[in-house]
Amino acid sequence: MIWTKEVIMAEAAYTHEVGLGTLSKEISDLGMQRYIEDLDTHGYTVVPPEIANPNGLAERMLETCLDIAARRSGERPDLERGGVRGRANSPVGYAMKALLLEDRVFEESLMNPALLALATYLCGYDVVLSSLSASMKGPGETRFRLHTDTRLPSPLPTQALLCKGIYLLTDFNRDNGSTVFVPGSHKWCRNPVASETSIGDGGNDQAVPVEAPAGSLLVFHGNTWHGAYNRVAPGLRVSVHLLMVRSLLRATEEFIGRIPQDVLDRNRPRFGILTQQGVVPPYIDKEDERAKVARAQKFVSAFEKDSGIQLPAKR
Ligand SMILES: [Fe+2]
Repeated sequence: MIWTKEVIMAEAAYTHEVGLGTLSKEISDLGMQRYIEDLDTHGYTVVPPEIANPNGLAERMLETCLDIAARRSGERPDLERGGVRGRANSPVGYAMKALLLEDRVFEESLMNPALLALATYLCGYDVVLSSLSASMKGPGETRFRLHTDTRLPSPLPTQALLCKGIYLLTDFNRDNGSTVFVPGSHKWCRNPVASETSIGDGGNDQAVPVEAPAGSLLVFHGNTWHGAYNRVAPGLRVSVHLLMVRSLLRATEEFIGRIPQDVLDRNRPRFGILTQQGVVPPYIDKEDERAKVARAQKFVSAFEKDSGIQLPAKR
């Protein structure tokens, strides 16, 4: 869907629930209309550093990721020459999971207006963070085969159930082990079959590698076929990945009740929604349900008051 004034007026006329007017203004204020059109046409977009990298966000995330890798693996990775111990030939590299609460810079990565505009466009204002992780990929021989992230049997729904944002912390290109996409594949609403999943020589000739500098932000629809080349250049490809899902889906990481109060307090109320606090988790009886609904509703009300956007009613 292209965000013409007519579409917005028609949609907004019958519901305030989706916040179309607000989102349209956010997209326009950020100068991001063309990236929305990319999402519609190709199922993915690359937002350049001028928009996606406020206040050196990517550089700060890179330093933080190297520090965390040093703590977790016992050795600080060498960006120019080295790999990460024991992970030389993995198609996804050395994966560092559950980073949101490791450093404040990751809160910033989640609240980055460029990411939120695109994630909201694809999955709505009640989209939640499912996982926040980093990948460090050194030279190797294994390519990451084409797949979708929706992870349901085909056919897949037209609307995005989820989307992914990838911050490029080092340059992406073919030799550096870039992500590849099949443009337009989100519209096919199916997973690739085995014969369509390989990339490179003799592989799927519709797959296109991303070429973009560090500081860019890649966002894609959950149905879009993607994979990655193996890195052949020395050194590391480093990226931070935010999986964002519609609030009704089960998230990968557990955030409900786990975000410290000072972290909630220093962010806008949308942070509470993004970190699943507005989601009602499974209950065991009526009393438990009442308590969980009341807790979630507090976060929803705070967001609605702050934003003027109405979220779907809680159970
Ligand atoms: Fe994926």
